[in-house]
Amino acid sequence: MLVLTRNDVRQLVPMTDAIELMKLAFRELSAGRAESPLRSVVPVAEGAVTLLMPAYVPAANALGFKVVSVFEGNRDKDLPTISAMVCLLDESTGAPMAIISGAYLTALRTGAVSGSATDLLARDDARNLVVIGAGAQGVTQAAAVAAVRPIEKITVVDLSEDSLERYRGQIAEDWPELLDRLETSSDASVVAQADVICTATTSRKPVFSDRDVKPGTHINAIGAFTPEMQELPEETVARATIVVDQVEAVLEEAGDFIIPINKGTLERRRIERELGQIVAEEAPGRTTVDEITLFKSVGNAVQDVTVARWAVERAIDTGAGQQVSID
Ligand SMILES: NC(=O)c1ccc[n+]([C@@H]2O[C@H](COP(=O)([O-])OP(=O)(O)OC[C@H]3O[C@@H](n4cnc5c(N)ncnc54)[C@H](O)[C@@H]3O)[C@@H](O)[C@H]2O)c1
Repeated sequence: MLVLTRNDVRQLVPMTDAIELMKLAFRELSAGRAESPLRSVVPVAEGAVTLLMPAYVPAANALGFKVVSVFEGNRDKDLPTISAMVCLLDESTGAPMAIISGAYLTALRTGAVSGSATDLLARDDARNLVVIGAGAQGVTQAAAVAAVRPIEKITVVDLSEDSLERYRGQIAEDWPELLDRLETSSDASVVAQADVICTATTSRKPVFSDRDVKPGTHINAIGAFTPEMQELPEETVARATIVVDQVEAVLEEAGDFIIPINKGTLERRRIERELGQIVAEEAPGRTTVDEITLFKSVGNAVQDVTVARWAVERAIDTGAGQQVSID
């Protein structure tokens, strides 16, 4: 069996490849050609859950699952909020094929899906990016958006000075080419200058104000992943063109939609357009320059197994990783 570390994944899967893989994965999911049962959630403690996420994407020969833990208290122990492992299986025998470190892979694919959505929905002249949430996901949000648009300025916003400092360090390590465009702030009103906004926080209430969002902005929202969590102002959700990773999953999990639907201020039928349908040209993307487009993702295991399979194929080609026998 092949074992791939964080660094192996980093070397083997460039962001631009990951962005194209996400388009393929969601095109297949929306077309009903991929299997991705709703994830099992194991509650462990207050603010601590472990999720099991299986998927099969035949077009990518990708069968496997991810185990991911989201432990919010880890931050106080100076540990990452998310830890994960992906297990890839041989699609012709079902046998385990590879174990892949999952924390960076998760951040890579979560950034990459925002990169795909930005590529399909943002204005071509988008130059100013604001990322809210300076955690592991916020880093790859910036890298992904900068890979698809001519971004000249990246402002990352967080309530925590420590997070902002760590963010700068992580950008310097993994994406040094972005460093000279990076500014940090604790004030979310900087979204008033944004052409693209990414929200990647653990917040339970909106992280910016609707009045600051200018016409033509594209928003990627990837943070809130339970019915109680909310990152987006309800007014912004109400006036945006909404695109999601998977309709069924966001209606089950995304508080950004569930809370206003339950209040009666958002019609459920507004959530009907999937990223994969836009990739397949079965649904429109942006239709006017002034429209606010909103992409909401709660994440799907098709992303993990597709990137994992790509990494394993590149590793086999290049001899990267370590072979171990478990039998
Ligand atoms: N959609 C997906 O596929 C997907 C994948 C992975 C993680 N996530 C979710 O994304 C979120 C971020 O993940 P992470 O690994 O980067 O977490 P993290 O804990 O490393 O970072 C979150 C950051 O958000 C900041 N924050 C919280 N509230 C804020 C607010 N109101 N304004 C500004 N900053 C605020 C925190 O200070 C922290 O620095 C989590 O909720 C996680 O579950 C989603």
